[in-house]
Amino acid sequence: MATTPAFDMVLFGGTGDLVMRKLLPSLYQAHKAELLHPEGRIVALGRSDIGRDAYLAQMDAQARPHVKNDFDAAAWASFVARIDFLKLDAADAADFAALAAHLGQRSGRVTVCYLATAPQLFSTLCEQLAAVGLNHPQVRVVLEKPLGHDLASSNDINAAVARFFNEDQLYRIDHYLGKESVQNLMAIRFGNALFEPLWRREWVDNVQISIAEDLGVEARGDFYDKTGALRDMVQNHLLQLLCIVAMEPPASLTANEIRDEKLKVLKALKPFSAEDVANKTVRAQYKAGAAGGRPVVGYHEEANIPADSRTETFVALKAEISNWRWAGVPFFLRTGKRMAERVAEIVINFRDVPHTLFPNPSGQSFANRLVIRLQPDESIRLYFLAKEPGDGMRLQPTYLNLDFQSMFKVRRADAYERLLLDVIRGDLSLFMRRDELAEAWRWVEPILETWATSPVPPKSYTAGTWGPAASSALLSRDGAAWHEEV
Ligand code: BG6
Repeated sequence: MATTPAFDMVLFGGTGDLVMRKLLPSLYQAHKAELLHPEGRIVALGRSDIGRDAYLAQMDAQARPHVKNDFDAAAWASFVARIDFLKLDAADAADFAALAAHLGQRSGRVTVCYLATAPQLFSTLCEQLAAVGLNHPQVRVVLEKPLGHDLASSNDINAAVARFFNEDQLYRIDHYLGKESVQNLMAIRFGNALFEPLWRREWVDNVQISIAEDLGVEARGDFYDKTGALRDMVQNHLLQLLCIVAMEPPASLTANEIRDEKLKVLKALKPFSAEDVANKTVRAQYKAGAAGGRPVVGYHEEANIPADSRTETFVALKAEISNWRWAGVPFFLRTGKRMAERVAEIVINFRDVPHTLFPNPSGQSFANRLVIRLQPDESIRLYFLAKEPGDGMRLQPTYLNLDFQSMFKVRRADAYERLLLDVIRGDLSLFMRRDELAEAWRWVEPILETWATSPVPPKSYTAGTWGPAASSALLSRDGAAWHEEV
């Protein structure tokens, strides 16, 4: 792949967790793969004036351990040479003038301002950037999630940012869209004729989208308790995956064509009434259990979690899409912390055969199923029945497996690397447009509101399991079961 244009990548929140754990390691990988323009520079910003040397020492301690594969000392050294550090206080206009002066020495380049900070700062940062002229057309701004706490706060942030930047300068990131298998899902759907005729209510019984994590809230208790799984995962990652599964084929792969189609799906999501929230959603918190063979504490015992917290660490819900393609097909979404395994999957369950010809001693029905696994490994499996070898006519469920690791022996970019390269190259197709974000909040909001006032507390589940029994019951009411339960 060609290298990027020349760029300055300005990292706001440069000493923070996201920059250290994700952004710098991803930029390093792109650098090592020679995808970054030789003139590409990275300017990390931090509130205290620690200076470049101390910053590089911090990177060494905090970013370098997150370079998972192929660490190469020479490549790291040449990567580090791209990095500058500047002190910047969001409230200090002089710091922005200094940043502009620093960047101004190098004109005719793309400037990416990555706002890896609390969203409350977005508006001030954009205003300050504009005040020093850093909102010219070659400037792009990356906005990290969570973009707001609800529809109103998200609208406020978007409106504030829009005073200084055009929509086509804004890259609202959802790292799930950068995952390899998500793009593969588009390839499967729109690059092959085979699936399209089956990809609809006549043939699909239900769809499951599940992101299970084995980790707990870790050191993020304070943030997490104010957020919860619905805001942290469903409003963005899960809904974005749902859009890619359910959208109509776009006329082309340009950013706006794709985003128009995703928006139509979001608009077609059936709104939840308070009664629907009671019947079609499950919220729960983990209690003490085990992870990786070791005992772990429950959510209420984690650091910075109030003893009476009702914040959900698990959500399962039944979404429905009111359009001709999907009416009547349940889309079951599920996510949780401290679940049995780290696994993210999209499962398309097709309808059963209309009439069974073969003896079926178990009495269990079987339907074809396409499983797109996003992580930990990437694969696509198509499950079907085949005859067991030997005498008689006994059928066995089996599958065709496309394992990307063994099929394609090439380097795989992680989600942040791909998305950072897209920003530098100016490709918006994997980023959320303002109207998409608003629709996603609009849909989630009645659930948030009903939960906030409900006298019924969240259910609980043991850490290291697949969630509360109510999650299985949600599916069994529609004659379905989660993929791992079958
Ligand atoms: C983030 C959430 O957006 O996604 C985290 O804030 C979550 O709580 C993470 O752990 C999961 O991402 P991934 O790529 O590790 O599945």
